[in-house]
Amino acid sequence: MADPSSPPAASMAEVVEQVRNAVRVHSRRFERAIPLIASENLLSPYAKELLISDFHSRYAEGLPGERYYEGNEQVDEVERICLDLARRLFRCSFADVRPISGTVANLAVLKALAAPGDLVGTARLSDGAHISSAGFGAFGLRGVKPVHYAWDEERMTIDVPKTRALLLEARPKLCLFGLSLFLFPLPVKELAPTLQEIGALGWYDAAHVLGLIAGGQFQDPLHEGCSVLSASTHKTLPGPQHGLLLGESKDPEVGRKLASAAFPGVTSNHHLNAMAALAVSLAETHEFGRAYAKQVVANARALALALHERGFDVLAEKLGFTASHTIAVRVAKEGGGESVAQRLAAAGIITNKNLLPGDTSPKHPGGIRLGSPEVTRVGMKEREMVRIAELLDDLLHKGVPTERVLEAAAELKKGFTGVQYCFGAGEAAYRYYDLVGRPVS
Ligand SMILES: Cc1ncc(COP(=O)(O)O)c(C=O)c1O
Repeated sequence: MADPSSPPAASMAEVVEQVRNAVRVHSRRFERAIPLIASENLLSPYAKELLISDFHSRYAEGLPGERYYEGNEQVDEVERICLDLARRLFRCSFADVRPISGTVANLAVLKALAAPGDLVGTARLSDGAHISSAGFGAFGLRGVKPVHYAWDEERMTIDVPKTRALLLEARPKLCLFGLSLFLFPLPVKELAPTLQEIGALGWYDAAHVLGLIAGGQFQDPLHEGCSVLSASTHKTLPGPQHGLLLGESKDPEVGRKLASAAFPGVTSNHHLNAMAALAVSLAETHEFGRAYAKQVVANARALALALHERGFDVLAEKLGFTASHTIAVRVAKEGGGESVAQRLAAAGIITNKNLLPGDTSPKHPGGIRLGSPEVTRVGMKEREMVRIAELLDDLLHKGVPTERVLEAAAELKKGFTGVQYCFGAGEAAYRYYDLVGRPVS
């Protein structure tokens, strides 16, 4: 249905202006906002520049040196650099940068290492798993059946003894470790002997925590017992929207199968502009990734503590709330996940409603998920996390009007609109560029 607030434009030229204007309005809105979505981040200026380069216009099916098209010499050079940076950053023998998103990378793993009818271990959606693990997601598309891990709600992680028993009984072919509500490392090391016993491969979905792994601030799944890692490259790793496959296996067949699942399995062209931007983001992660990941985790912990001190029900208090970029807050007494996320957005604080363990209705999530990647990327530290907690407290507990919180959020953000932890740091993060690269205010 048409939005009554935006009447239909008269000509296609006006439609183009309408779209450009909507994006400009969006950019300005985010420049003044406090974005706390755990899965979002900002590109560095050099990575951003490559998104509108001529690489965007080209095809390069296949691998460097083995293409189906001519004219790919520089694409090959960049892709070789990208692969080398990925393998060195994660200390592994196999990398493929052709999946165009995290979901596509997951599909590639399922195509390579499972067949229709196979059993695959995973967490439940209500325990934090991504929709890739659902029957209506990638699992269903490949026709594999989930074996759900037992969950320790208090510790927000897999219950090892109960899951070991489940795995010995069901004997899945592949075991997926990875979450969208990812507070603590998962027990890959602890379950690795069980996987070996039943002949299952370990697969880690690092979409959320790739930047933390790169920065040495989380677990290191490829050296704890997983043979394969799939990921998005734009969450805690602040790169372009793209995907990635990594592998560390004694069996060379695993890499060969993953490569052929990536192409021609689940991609044709692999969005060469994003691949080039990824090469820059990986180089910047080599240089700045450790300091960035450290501050991301410190900020998430500081925000959790400040919210807890103001009466919010932040999950996993006994474990220090989080060891990642994410915190989960049960907001039943504040009105439930949906209403709270909407009220916060109206006040310039962008979050998402989230299912939490124990929620009975997927339509009524009991919580919100907050993440520190973007506010850290623009240079905020622990002091600003306390200020953000005050804003939530003002709006949701003290009855301060939305307009006043919106103004206070914009005031806080004023000093934090440049991208940090990258080459060319300080460049305006939210600036809108026109087609020829001119900044538009
Ligand atoms: C655990 C996990 N895997 C995969 C994805 C999908 O990533 P993408 O949006 O890049 O397809 C997400 C997205 O949030 C995720 O949380």
